[in-house]
Amino acid sequence: MKIYDGKYILIGLLVFVGVITFPIWFNLGKAAPPPEPKLDTPVIMQMAQKQCVLPREEMRTGHMQILNDWRTQVVRNGKRMYVAADGKTYEMSLQNECMRCHSNKTQFCDQCHTYAGLKLDSTPYCWTCHVPPKETK
Ligand code: HEC
Ligand code: HEC
Ligand code: HEC
Repeated sequence: MKIYDGKYILIGLLVFVGVITFPIWFNLGKAAPPPEPKLDTPVIMQMAQKQCVLPREEMRTGHMQILNDWRTQVVRNGKRMYVAADGKTYEMSLQNECMRCHSNKTQFCDQCHTYAGLKLDSTPYCWTCHVPPKETK
């Protein structure tokens, strides 16, 4: 009887250790360094002050929201100009504005989305209608 109980305790312990260390071994072999989004496009290189529509951190986490808002403004409200907090104006357009600066779509948007594990086609689906920038490979 004693031996029997010991067995179950041992199995229980092994399961416990397995569960506790799951995050460690689950991630083994998957760790890739995060890509550094490339900002060396012709338009951005020419900017005296390299800035986006919003500060970098806000763009990083909030660009999908901006694109959503822009689309709503254009399609529902017929508005096309966006005035940023610093008074700069932007045309609310994915292909004419964002991609004018970020013309390196594959190096910038795609690379980060792939890293972030977005389904490969979750943003490319925008490009079934919107015109992606021409890139020289
Ligand atoms: C089925 C086709 C279609 C798809 C897919 C699509 N759009 Fe659009 N989008 C349009 C059309 C049509 C307009 C209106 C264009 C205009 O009035 O200039 C528009 C307008 C916009 C605008 C504002 C105007 C402009 O020139 O950019 C934004 C921003 C936008 N879409 C973002 C997106 C994003 C982001 C995605 C993917 C998540 C997406 N769209 C997917 C068809 C599409
Ligand atoms: C006038 C040129 C310009 C326009 C227009 C522009 N960007 Fe940017 N974007 C930049 C620059 C420059 C940076 C780097 C900003 C910094 O380092 O502070 C940047 C940064 C970003 C980042 C953060 C990258 C990182 O390192 O995490 C994202 C995401 C982004 N932009 C998406 C967009 C989207 C989406 C649009 C359209 C809604 C857009 N940008 C419009 C120039 C632009
Ligand atoms: C620094 C990394 C990074 C860069 C650079 C970046 N994205 Fe994203 N993007 C993300 C992440 C992460 C998500 C998913 C966010 C979420 O699910 O909440 C996302 C989501 C999106 C979505 C919503 C997709 C959906 O299916 O809901 C759109 C649209 C989008 N990005 C467009 C762009 C465009 C256009 C560019 C290039 C101008 C760009 N992104 C550059 C990280 C990035």
